[in-house]
Amino acid sequence: MQSFTPRQLPTYEHLLAALEQECQAFRESLDTRRVSNSASSLQPRELTEQPGGFEVFRQVFSTEIAPQLSASNGGRYWGFVTGGANPVATYADWLVTLYNQNVSKGGDSVASQVERQAIKWITELFELPAVFDGVMTTGATAANVLGAMTARQEIGRKQGIDVAKVGCKELEYTVFAATPHASMVKALGLAGLGQESWVQVACEPNIEAMDTTDLARKLADCRGTGKIVIASAATVTGTDYDDLVRVAQLCRQHQAWLHVDGAFGIFERLLAGPQGKTQGIELADSITLDCHKWLNVPYDCGVFLTRHPHTLFATCNVDAPYLANTEEAFPFMSLGIENSRRFRALPVWATLLAYGKQGIKAQIQRNVAQAATLANWIDASPAYELVKACELNVVVFSASAANAHDTEALLAQLNESGQVFMTPGRWQGSPVIRCAFSNWRTEQRDVELAISELFRLAN
Ligand SMILES: Cc1ncc(COP(=O)(O)O)c(C=O)c1O
Repeated sequence: MQSFTPRQLPTYEHLLAALEQECQAFRESLDTRRVSNSASSLQPRELTEQPGGFEVFRQVFSTEIAPQLSASNGGRYWGFVTGGANPVATYADWLVTLYNQNVSKGGDSVASQVERQAIKWITELFELPAVFDGVMTTGATAANVLGAMTARQEIGRKQGIDVAKVGCKELEYTVFAATPHASMVKALGLAGLGQESWVQVACEPNIEAMDTTDLARKLADCRGTGKIVIASAATVTGTDYDDLVRVAQLCRQHQAWLHVDGAFGIFERLLAGPQGKTQGIELADSITLDCHKWLNVPYDCGVFLTRHPHTLFATCNVDAPYLANTEEAFPFMSLGIENSRRFRALPVWATLLAYGKQGIKAQIQRNVAQAATLANWIDASPAYELVKACELNVVVFSASAANAHDTEALLAQLNESGQVFMTPGRWQGSPVIRCAFSNWRTEQRDVELAISELFRLAN
């Protein structure tokens, strides 16, 4: 009978041998397995009274689970904004599990210093001022939650309210946004600011970027003292960037907190530098970015940065005597949502160390070139309409009037082919197909395969 008794568990040698076989099977299947699996189903199975043992799990995983998993870690999964897990980060992530550190605070191992250094390297990678500090999160959604909560804490401070301590019943606030990501809207709800109570700022004509004249007007009209502006760099469908220099100027003028969601769009900074489309992000009060998107580390890994770490601390402070915070025992649990935390910084640290700024930039460039190849083909094809010029890694298109399909049916057929995976979106009220390139595995031949599939469907 198996139990959690060390001697009865499989040895690391046994686990490694099994993992080697699993890796081999995964690698061999990646080119041939369906990219997505909408018809997947798990057999009903009773919870067993007696232990099944490791070999039973292995057998069930390889016959029932693995064949039904998507190829989201492969080169032709272009839904949402999905990064692949690069090999170095994959290895680092295995080590994270092997060592299983709890990075809730420093003082018992070097893990917290690795996270501190990874955060510093991230700010250097994106050429952000050294004043930015922060914490690794489970993803951009969690970073957006921290953005909303830290902003709330700061506007509370200005009104003499310690929101973390007494709540936000008396808080007076107004949130302004133009095209916030759905996760940002969720974050506003979680922070008690309301999913539906933000002020809609107009967009520039035909794009999703904020109309800053409208923002200026709305900020000036707002009589309250608690103002929060949510900006995008970039929007998830149109890849549109708010004019962050102007938005930051307005925020300074009206004492508004500026949170910028740069989940994947901040990576444009590696190509164009600080004067590109992200110019002004360095003036934000807080920034969200995702490492499990374009840095290609495994899920779950986002980053929350702020130039007000003390406010973040006041927001998340955990007050328990056995958790004494000192400089050596760096208090990550008082800078984020969780107390117990995975050592998710290691794959980021490993990626930055192994690939360097140039290696990461080269990967971004490859994905941008792949998106351009697909966008150019779509633009030239009578069967499809390129809905918006592709300037980064997201191609947005629909079926043209000459195509017998409607766009939603076309997307369903495309995904049903199992060759590629894209996701739906809406552009100016109409359905579109979004195709986002952010995986290190994608090659030109993958784009060609997508093109031939689109050609086949159109004919
Ligand atoms: C702009 C933006 N913000 C936030 C998110 C949410 O990211 P996550 O799923 O990592 O929480 C996304 C995901 O696509 C995004 O594109």
